[in-house]
Amino acid sequence: MISMSKSPDAAARAPAHIRAIAPYVGGKPIEEVARELDLDPATIIKLASNENPRGASPLALAAIATAAADITRYPDGNGFALKAALAARLGVRPGEIVLGNGSNDVLELATQAFLVAGDEAVYSQYAFIVYPLATAARGARGIEVPAREFGHDLDAMRRAITPRTRIVFVANPNNPTGTWLPVGAVEAFIASVPPDVVVVLDEAYNEYLDVSEQSDSAAWISRYPNLIVSHTFSKAHGLAALRVGYGVMNAGLADLLNRVRQPFNVNSLAQAAALAALGDEQYVADSRRLNREGMEQLAAGLARLGLHFLESRGNFMLIEFAAAQATFQSLLRQGVIVRPVANYGLPDWLRVTVGTQAENERFLAALAAALANSSAVSRAD
Ligand SMILES: Cc1ncc(COP(=O)(O)O)c(C=O)c1O
Repeated sequence: MISMSKSPDAAARAPAHIRAIAPYVGGKPIEEVARELDLDPATIIKLASNENPRGASPLALAAIATAAADITRYPDGNGFALKAALAARLGVRPGEIVLGNGSNDVLELATQAFLVAGDEAVYSQYAFIVYPLATAARGARGIEVPAREFGHDLDAMRRAITPRTRIVFVANPNNPTGTWLPVGAVEAFIASVPPDVVVVLDEAYNEYLDVSEQSDSAAWISRYPNLIVSHTFSKAHGLAALRVGYGVMNAGLADLLNRVRQPFNVNSLAQAAALAALGDEQYVADSRRLNREGMEQLAAGLARLGLHFLESRGNFMLIEFAAAQATFQSLLRQGVIVRPVANYGLPDWLRVTVGTQAENERFLAALAAALANSSAVSRAD
């Protein structure tokens, strides 16, 4: 007779490379902070996950309402309408686009398609943490290349590529540092990578760049058949909860990623909302402008407080503190959620997302109070 008792060792017998993974730590949700600190959720502001403080485009909200009438059906697993619109916008073919459950999914799919145990993936110190996580989940080896002034050192990353390297990740702009590489440097790097190594160029914050600084990276895929460009609707388009992003790549690579993705990885509400959001160019342009204004507001306020921060091209800033954890806790008690980044090897820094003008003001006031109370002073003083 087969024993139905559960083996106490099941978890212990998971592969060592899975057990070694440190789980992803996201921004604290508003409801959780309200519960833990007995605060009214309506008074809490969250500047912890690089979300768009304006909410979603009204066109996207209307599209969701329409699509909600048909949620009993499975979504279009091939994302026909969204891919067609993206292809027209980007000047590529629909077969050169892979939709993802957030662009995070595209990053994961790339590692699923190309990495096995023994392979290497190269990324920068302080790069987006999903690169090491997704690499580790495949049992592959992550090669972390020391950063240069908190940004990617592309020359060193090129030198770190070995015959075992299958993927190189480049975030531009990078999260959490906000560092950015000029278009020419990125293209020269991609051109220098051996053609049998996949380059994943993660442009999640692309829309926040000044239009003159945005690369025409989708056009590069015809020149570099080893390139995957990932974009998202979570940031400037304001659809983070729906989880929708996409990768642009040569059709051969797209075919491989499609083999390993879930058949219905992007739900129908997300597809409809993304399609509408893509058409609302004014919303994205306004988001970019408000982000720039908010960034200037934060930079001026932080300078007044004598704090050191990194110049950022994203919708967030990294700020240095003498006592980052105490400052984080003090802000939480005042109902302001920001993001500790000790898990990035940056224990003396906090990341704050650019909010609305009122949210930024509230953050700066809470920060002033936190610093006054705790004698937490900037290293820059
Ligand atoms: C650099 C970078 N890439 C990708 C993502 C993934 O975003 P999403 O899965 O919501 O598209 C994020 C999210 O914070 C990010 O910062």
